[in-house]
Amino acid sequence: MKLPFAIARRFVAGETFQSAVPKVNLLNNKGIKVSLDLLGENVKDKKTALETTSSYIDLLKSIQDLNLQANISIKLTMLGLDFDPAFCESNLYKLLDVAKQEQQFVRIDMEGSSYTQITIDFLKKAQQAYPGHVGTVIQAMLHRTKSDIPELVQSDADIRLCKGAYKESSQVALQSMPLIREAYKSYAKQLLGVTTYPRIATHDDELITWVKEYTKEQGIQPSQFEFQMLYGLRQNTCEELVKDGYNVRVYVPYGTMWFPYFYRRLRERKENTWFVVSTLFKK
Ligand code: FDA
Repeated sequence: MKLPFAIARRFVAGETFQSAVPKVNLLNNKGIKVSLDLLGENVKDKKTALETTSSYIDLLKSIQDLNLQANISIKLTMLGLDFDPAFCESNLYKLLDVAKQEQQFVRIDMEGSSYTQITIDFLKKAQQAYPGHVGTVIQAMLHRTKSDIPELVQSDADIRLCKGAYKESSQVALQSMPLIREAYKSYAKQLLGVTTYPRIATHDDELITWVKEYTKEQGIQPSQFEFQMLYGLRQNTCEELVKDGYNVRVYVPYGTMWFPYFYRRLRERKENTWFVVSTLFKK
C-alpha cells in the first residue's frame, strides 16, 4: 500500500525537485543555506544506480541554474554500493567531476555502521582528487568514531558531526543519551577551530548551547563553522541562530522514496509523531 505524501510533508519538502524549490527559496531568503537530498537508499541494480547518478548531476546543475544557496547530500547505497563498490565509486567520481565544474559540494551521508569503513575509505580518496568539493558525516554514537575523528581531522576533512540515526547494537555504538552527548562534545572539540569548517548537526539545545559557549571561550568565530538542522525541525531556532550571526544550513529531503527517512524521524522523538498527526489536520 502506498502511503499518502501528506503524512510526510512535515519532514519532506516535496515529491519532486520542483515542489521543493519554493521551500529552499523561503529558507534562503531567511539567510539559511540548504543541503538538498534526493531521498532513497539501497538501490539494487546498475540501471537504477546510473539513473540516480544522473538525477544527482541534474540536481547540481539545477541548483546553479536557479541560483539556490544549496549543495547536495547523497547516499552511496543509491550509487550501487551494495552490489558493486567499484561501480559505486565510479558513479561518485562522475558526480564529483560535475561538482568541481559547477563549483559545488557533495556530502556523503553516513548510513548504518556496516557502511562506515567503506564510506570513510571513499571519502579519503575523493577528497584528495576533489579537495573542497566533498565531505562526509561522522556519527558520535559509534565507538569507532574515537579513532576515526583524529584521522579525519589530520586530513582536514569536511565533516558533518551528528549523533547517528541508525539503530546499532551496544557492540558498535553508545546506547545512552548522556554518553552520546559527551562523545559529541569531545568530537566537536576536536573538529572546531582545527578543521577548516566543521558542520554541527543537531537539534539538541544542550549541544547547541555548549557549542556556542565553547567557541566563544576559545575565540572561534561563528564564521568558522555552521549549525545544521533537518527540514521541518526547529525553524525558529535556525532563524534565531542566523540573527545571532551564526551560519545555518538546513537539510532538505525530497522525492518519492521518503518512507525510510520519515520513519527514522518518527523513531527519534515521540514529539515528531505528534507533528505528523497535527500536519494531517492542517491545510
Ligand atoms: P535528539 O533527537 O537526540 O533530541 C535531543 C534533544 O534535543 C531533545 O530531547 C530536545 O530537548 C531537543 N530537540 C530535538 N528536536 C527538537 C525539536 N524538534 N524541537 C524542540 N526540541 C528538540 N544521521 C546519520 O546517521 N547519518 C547522517 O548522514 C545524518 N545526517 C544528518 C544531517 C543533519 C543536518 C542533521 C541535523 C541530522 C543528521 N542525522 C544523520 C541525524 C542525526 O544523527 C540524529 O539522528 C538526529 O539529528 C537527532 O539527534 P539530535 O541531536 O538532533 O536531537
